[in-house]
Amino acid sequence: MNATIKLENEKHFPVLLEKLISIISPLYGGTFIDCTFGQGGYSKKILENKYNNIIAIDRDVKSLEISKKFEKKYKNRFKFKNMKFSEINRIKINKNILKGIIFDLGYSTTQIKDPEKGLSFLSKGKLNMRMGLNEFSANEIVNDFDQSSLSKIFYSFGDEKKANNIARKIINFRKSKNIETQDLVKIIDSVYKKKFKKIHNSTKVFQALRIFVNKEISELIDSLISSFKLLPKGGVIVVVSFHSIEDKIVKYFFHHYSQNKNSSRYLPEKQRKKILFNLPQKKPLIPENYEVLKNPPSRSAKLRYAIKINENQDFSDFKKKFKYLLDIENIC
Ligand SMILES: C[S@@+](CC[C@H](N)C(=O)[O-])C[C@H]1O[C@@H](n2cnc3c(N)ncnc32)[C@H](O)[C@@H]1O
Repeated sequence: MNATIKLENEKHFPVLLEKLISIISPLYGGTFIDCTFGQGGYSKKILENKYNNIIAIDRDVKSLEISKKFEKKYKNRFKFKNMKFSEINRIKINKNILKGIIFDLGYSTTQIKDPEKGLSFLSKGKLNMRMGLNEFSANEIVNDFDQSSLSKIFYSFGDEKKANNIARKIINFRKSKNIETQDLVKIIDSVYKKKFKKIHNSTKVFQALRIFVNKEISELIDSLISSFKLLPKGGVIVVVSFHSIEDKIVKYFFHHYSQNKNSSRYLPEKQRKKILFNLPQKKPLIPENYEVLKNPPSRSAKLRYAIKINENQDFSDFKKKFKYLLDIENIC
């Protein structure tokens, strides 16, 4: 049996599905954009209500195969686009029928187990980590980038405290051979010296490389701004995130534009910061114990959502806030 056939049998458990449905169901009877279709777990549940339509997006071409079955079953209630969600502004839709835009960030179980993608530190062969529609792979980064760039990526996107040591060892190692996935795992182990306890020694560096290869920071920032512009007032943006950088970005976007703390009412109307969102819950929703037991990768999931209540065009302070991360993503 080859890897592709086995992968088709791999099941991805949609995370926080019940909580998502309880948030969006009051808006049922319209179109939802599922920005991270994956295996279609969210889309399928939303389409159970016959008055709902879905426009689904995923950058992974493997989701295109799954979407064909959806197109057959749900006919004109379902459309799929193999594209990055940062391009969501390309979607032509009548604003009035759009009810919500949903993101379930990161990767699916199927993707992490896909040997071609090399997202896991158990993968063999060349480094890759492309989820789809990428400009370069982790192979080019690890084998071509200078020490300082590698160190910045590992530190900023992985919070890897030994970033500089690891980067130095990479530069030495690759003088003799091209670094492949298992070489990288051994280099990181050699810096840590002892075996990992709770999390694998390679977890942080692999997360950093995945974020960099897939430009996850700009993807998220650009798509949040575009989603806001696409939505009518009353529409909802829901984001499920899995690591602290994503959550920091989503939290800032929703909270910063739902309060006018530093905006005096004595300022002229034009200079006053507008409140753009209503936040029904300030704290993120997290999975119940039974969900974590059934699906351990859900343990780090956080769901935040916001209802749009005003229009706005200027998001420069949002971009400024995360410029330090965007700059690292733009090293190449
Ligand atoms: C956690 S999975 C989603 C699972 C889905 N909710 C389900 O129930 O099957 C995340 C998906 O988002 C996709 N993805 C990640 N970043 C993306 C981006 N920038 N643009 C489009 N799709 C993206 C991945 O390819 C992956 O299929």
